Amino acid sequence: MTIRAQVLGAAAGGGLPQWNCGCTNCNLARQGAIPAQTQSSLAISADGQSWTVLNASPDIRQQLAQTAPLHPTALRSLPLRSVVLTNGDIDHVAGLLTLREVQPFDLFATAGIHDVLAQNPIFDALRGEVVPRLTIALDTEFSPVPGLTATLFAVPGKVPLYMEGDTVQTELMGEQTVGVEMIAGSTRIYYIPGCARLTDSLRSRLNGADAVFFDGTLWQDDEMIVAGVGQKTGKRMGHMSISGPEGSLAAFEGLDVGRKVFVHMNNTNPVLRPGSVEKAKAEAAGWTIAQDGMELML
Ligand code: MLT
Ligand code: MN
Ligand code: ZN
Repeated sequence: MTIRAQVLGAAAGGGLPQWNCGCTNCNLARQGAIPAQTQSSLAISADGQSWTVLNASPDIRQQLAQTAPLHPTALRSLPLRSVVLTNGDIDHVAGLLTLREVQPFDLFATAGIHDVLAQNPIFDALRGEVVPRLTIALDTEFSPVPGLTATLFAVPGKVPLYMEGDTVQTELMGEQTVGVEMIAGSTRIYYIPGCARLTDSLRSRLNGADAVFFDGTLWQDDEMIVAGVGQKTGKRMGHMSISGPEGSLAAFEGLDVGRKVFVHMNNTNPVLRPGSVEKAKAEAAGWTIAQDGMELML
């Protein structure tokens, strides 16, 4: 059995270029000197016919338009069967509003994420009788498309930015930030676009995987501060960085993973520049930097 994985959007919230950003990468992308990237989403199929979309990005309209396997096959017949959410962040849920035209699909998420949606009545535009909201308990198998078994599992993270109170726990383990394990036959892959730390139990879970699509938000923790675009570190945003002793390159060392792919890159991340030293370093460590439209057969 093969799993087809299609990167719909490789960038983090804001995309590349981000509407209000004049950083080096955003300017290069506007000039067409480096490829622009849409916001965080991955499409998965086990049979090539029916697809699930992991996270509904604000760019989903454009993403669906440029992804032939997801085009309508008849007047109102669509290969999209379901959407799975890994958290309630705007870059992962705002696209649900685009999918509102009385088109049936299943919406899978933890109870915690469904609660966040329920607190925002704008999502009632997706009518329950057309788009059932299916609650998936952590570490419990479900099938988002025929031929594929999936499991949601807690990874260290935080509540969505717009739900933050006065104090924020950035390595919360629970229903607010999850990874997705997907199995078809003997193929096992993971999608983890947000992760504050690679814990020992997470490391052992990922070992032996055919592919891991992993949080590549920042190259270094203080990257946004150094670039002058914000005050937040990666840690404060609930994202571990790629480089450094606590980074993902180091954390994945010694793990047996077939394909290691960074997704959800922030627009400041130097790995988004073809030819950058940082991209070369990540590739030398066995990683691929995802790009919009990239497809893997696993
Ligand atoms: C994140 O990944 O940290 C969030 O998407 C940030 C945001 O909500 O803009
Ligand atoms: Mn995000
Ligand atoms: Zn920028």
